[in-house]
Amino acid sequence: MIVCSRKQEVMELISDSIKLNKTIGLVPTMGSLHEGHLSLISEALANNDIIWVTIFVNPTQFNNSDDLKNYPKNFKEDLNLIKKISNNINVFHPNEMEIYDGKPLLKVYDFNNLDLELEGKYRASHFNGVATVVSKLLNLFKPTNAYFGEKDYQQTQIINRLIDIEKIEVNLIICPTKRDKNGLALSSRNKLLSKKNKKKSSIIYESLIYLKKYFQNKPVPLIINEVKTKINSFQDFQIEYLEIVNNKSLQLESNYDKNKVYRAFICVRVKGVRLIDNILLN
Ligand code: PAF
Repeated sequence: MIVCSRKQEVMELISDSIKLNKTIGLVPTMGSLHEGHLSLISEALANNDIIWVTIFVNPTQFNNSDDLKNYPKNFKEDLNLIKKISNNINVFHPNEMEIYDGKPLLKVYDFNNLDLELEGKYRASHFNGVATVVSKLLNLFKPTNAYFGEKDYQQTQIINRLIDIEKIEVNLIICPTKRDKNGLALSSRNKLLSKKNKKKSSIIYESLIYLKKYFQNKPVPLIINEVKTKINSFQDFQIEYLEIVNNKSLQLESNYDKNKVYRAFICVRVKGVRLIDNILLN
């Protein structure tokens, strides 16, 4: 396992890999790894010659300084988890200065409004921050394949558009959401939940399943309302958004057309901890 913190070191290693015609798999993360990340890493390991995992808590994608401060960090444990999968995985763990060549600065992109929907309504400039760092990573590692989780579906669509805008040659691989035994989507933020609230949070996935079941049989405003009322009745739980939108544009539509594809997105604040999830409906 190679662990680097300098871009120069990475550039030399990547240039050697490219000369040898090796395929490169990249798994960008913000650390505090869980089974969801590990499944992306295993997928990368199975399909590439060289695997890089990046661990960097990117400040430009946080619009709330407390959120950034409280974001769980556990580098030593992350390395142990990666080693358990294989010793043949390289890790890049830079500091802010190294990634941003100085003060972290945000690049502003035109995402065709994808960044203004859902998460974008509550986290101003979040996706510009994500795209800024992902662009830096894709340009540094020049991966054949880059791996992201479906839990952050809106993020995957933003990255898809970024790849288009910057004409980056990479295959974007979207891997299924990993869940705990109660259905809660795995997230580094789950570590911030009390045991009781974590258990109760299974209501989020149960609600998505409910929406999928009734999407074509009951009026959409009715099922959305049912779910909102139920979740908001839980102590410490508050829905930030729950929307059924076009799977591609992520826009709300006035009518649901059977020939189009829709996805439900949810964000619930559980005692201040933001939990997001989504499900493909048809
Ligand atoms: O999904 C994440 O963990 C982050 O948004 C990413 C893609 C690593 C960029 O910082």
